[in-house]
Amino acid sequence: MSTPAPAAVVVLAAGEGTRMRSRTTPKVLHPLAGRTMLGHVLAATDGLRPERTVVVVGHARETVTGHLADIAPGASAVVQEQQNGTGHAVRVALAAVGDLHGTVVVVPGDSPLLTAETLSRLVEEHERLQAATTLLTAVVDDPTGYGRVVRAPGGGVTAVVEHRDADDLQRQIREVATSVYAFDVVRLREALAQLSTDNAQGEEYLTDVVGLHAAAGLPVAAVTAPDPLETMGVNDRAQLAAAGAALRDRLVHRLLVAGVTVVDPATTWVDVTVEVEADAVVQPGCQLLGGTVVRAGAEVGPDCTLTDTEVGEGARVRRATCEGAVIGPEAQVGPYTYLRPGTRLGARSKAGGFVEMKAADVGQDAKVPHLSYVGDAAIGPRSNIGAATVFVNYDGRNKHRTVVGSDARVGSDTMLVAPVSVGDGAYTAAGSVITTDVPPGALGVSRARQRNIEGWVERRRGGSAPTPQERPAEEPTTGPAQD
Ligand code: UD1
Ligand code: CA
Repeated sequence: MSTPAPAAVVVLAAGEGTRMRSRTTPKVLHPLAGRTMLGHVLAATDGLRPERTVVVVGHARETVTGHLADIAPGASAVVQEQQNGTGHAVRVALAAVGDLHGTVVVVPGDSPLLTAETLSRLVEEHERLQAATTLLTAVVDDPTGYGRVVRAPGGGVTAVVEHRDADDLQRQIREVATSVYAFDVVRLREALAQLSTDNAQGEEYLTDVVGLHAAAGLPVAAVTAPDPLETMGVNDRAQLAAAGAALRDRLVHRLLVAGVTVVDPATTWVDVTVEVEADAVVQPGCQLLGGTVVRAGAEVGPDCTLTDTEVGEGARVRRATCEGAVIGPEAQVGPYTYLRPGTRLGARSKAGGFVEMKAADVGQDAKVPHLSYVGDAAIGPRSNIGAATVFVNYDGRNKHRTVVGSDARVGSDTMLVAPVSVGDGAYTAAGSVITTDVPPGALGVSRARQRNIEGWVERRRGGSAPTPQERPAEEPTTGPAQD
């Protein structure tokens, strides 16, 4: 059954968020699980397919409006000059959008766990009952700070009383207002025109619309959220962390039921935008961020941070930080490996321990097993890059490219000074500084020939560490003990 689309969604995001104590970030722009709080809220309201979405901005309006243009270009921002309360915010929003008919949904910008399903249920119930107001409520263990839902003996909602305005008896109520509502827009406008500021905060409370409608004998309905966590408002950083953990649990649970093995859900952090296929394994301590995709049968972790990275089928990535990398099927990465943007590892290739790569195309079955830097380079299929090789890509001013052909063997500790190439099947000698192209099939050597100067230590460093001849005879040994 499809819910009729509401005429408008109004998102309240003008407050300063004083309790976040942030000098730099407006409250609704704090991130969790790969989106801002506002981004999560808009993703949920998008599920309603509203005819229009209006975001009320005020504090740090340029920053919030700029972000809005990035994430939801279809939404419009309405400025609330003075933050005179949630009711005032909705009044300003409705004045800006002009004529509307039907249902308006109001959501706070600081409830990142809201789901489209719960919002749809709210709207369905609202329209089924033809209510003037339908509020989403939640029953919580600790209602401190929330508005309390006051019901008549028959069960009907009669008012919402803010925590600060509530008496002792009302404060014992554990059913709270979530700041999420469906309203009939005509009735809403009527009630907003009657709001007073005669309360503890001297503000126009949106919650008072509930009492005004109930007192006028209009139908007021309530839907209780199935999971109170979903309606959690984030006012401070402790709540931000709690919401982040709840979102993590939700996202990891989604992976688990989809057939992904997540060894330690508590230390696995997954952005909403990440995709992990069935039969992938996520070891403890992983952050999978942005547009990261982990294909079937791949295993990541322990301790990986993967951002916008694709991990191919059956690949194995251990203790690695990867950003904007594409890791081919059955490739191996790690441990202690840093893959930067533009790294592409071919099928069955390897970026081993303490290897850093950037803008590097590594052919299939090619290996960079140990301690190397590969930047601005192409390495052909089946080539092997010896330990501690550096692709010297930067001349102090510009970056240059290195091309290593197929089946090449670059000796350990080679400096490949770009622009340079090593041809198909070519070798370089260990310790060489390669500044000119090595033709296919050739050996590139560039190092001083070694000479040994006999007796030099005794002549030139007499009195330093004794030479073997001067050492006192050691106890004769019989080799390793046998037992
Ligand atoms: C509000 C509700 C409370 C409810 C709680 C649920 C009111 C008066 N209180 O309290 O009943 O239990 O949410 O989380 O509605 N905002 C504006 N303009 C303003 C004031 C606020 O846009 O002038 C925005 C804020 O940015 C925020 C949202 O409205 O996103 C809610 O405001 P907040 O101050 O967080 O209200 P609470 O005290 O949490
Ligand atoms: Ca709040």
